[in-house]
Amino acid sequence: MKAKNSSFPPPGKSLTDLFSRSISYLRLSLTDRCNLRCIYCVTEDESSGSLTKLKHEELLTYEELLHVVRVAVNMGITKVRLTGGEPLVRRGVLDFIRDMMRIEGLDDVRITTNGVLLAGCAQELLDAGVSKVNISLDSLKAKRVQEITGIDCFDKVWQGIEKVLALGFSPVKVNMVAMRHINDDEILDFARLSQQLPLQMRFIEFMPIGASSRWDKDTYISTDEIMERVSALGELIPMQKGRADGPAKVFRLGADAPGSLGFISPLSHHFCDRCNRLRLTSAGSLRSCLLHDEEVDLRSILRNQPTDEAIQAAMIEAIRNKPRGHQLTERMKQSGSDCHGRMSRIGG
Ligand code: 5AD
Ligand code: SF4
Repeated sequence: MKAKNSSFPPPGKSLTDLFSRSISYLRLSLTDRCNLRCIYCVTEDESSGSLTKLKHEELLTYEELLHVVRVAVNMGITKVRLTGGEPLVRRGVLDFIRDMMRIEGLDDVRITTNGVLLAGCAQELLDAGVSKVNISLDSLKAKRVQEITGIDCFDKVWQGIEKVLALGFSPVKVNMVAMRHINDDEILDFARLSQQLPLQMRFIEFMPIGASSRWDKDTYISTDEIMERVSALGELIPMQKGRADGPAKVFRLGADAPGSLGFISPLSHHFCDRCNRLRLTSAGSLRSCLLHDEEVDLRSILRNQPTDEAIQAAMIEAIRNKPRGHQLTERMKQSGSDCHGRMSRIGG
């Protein structure tokens, strides 16, 4: 939904969209490449081997990315999350992170990873100033992890989780995409982990994303159903939302649990009205909504007219296009896919 407004954006440092949402959070997809092939991310044609990946020159260079982040921070972005594909597979990523952490005004850099390479670089991440991590893990059974991701990687991911906990990363969030008949029999095991370790175990509703997503109504499980199942384990005590919680509803499972549970409901309970995000895809396009295909081609701008003003104008244009909300629920009824972008390029 767009509106004409000549005084947009409002004066001042903070970026505010047409619906008065303050945009302070930038998600950078550093690469569309990934060392895994998760069933909910990789489209069917990709899983059969014909993966169309971006060419190296189609990715923004680290220099270009640093330029964008510098301008974005100047415009009021305070938090950056590195995503992918898998951000840790991009060569030179640790040097890039170290350079980015030197940008004044950027106080919060986080990473979302599949955890496979995490144990090997956790110390370096911490030394660079990144101590907040989200790790995707959809099963606690090695064989099933292999079925879901295509790779036998459970042990490596688990070593990564143990390593970041030992180093004192906080928060450490584990993302589970809940899928009926695929991993829903492990919902309670995941919840119990929050009673043993200082992890935030997050249950994410399966979203119909990508041109040929595996999503269907039967595989989808709502947050309400997940919460109902989990509440059999004990009282769900609501926790005050921290700045780090994003769209999750957060609970503790019993007063003594060292960890917490997060519920993320992109379909059943929109959080669009609180959305503070802007995304930069690995192809160098600004995207104001995960589920809305309109993008601003920042890469062309960076390669023709790499000025702060041009980047600023592109960001303002992207934010002007930010829709009020998505129509996933309506599309879901038709069992169709809502957006055609690829998760591995958009960055989750
Ligand atoms: N539905 C829900 N979550 C998804 N992710 C990727 N694809 C989907 C989908 N179709 C999430 C996973 C992963 C993160 C990178 O994106 O939780 O942890
Ligand atoms: Fe890789 Fe993440 Fe996609 Fe899985 S969801 S294939 S880990 S990019």
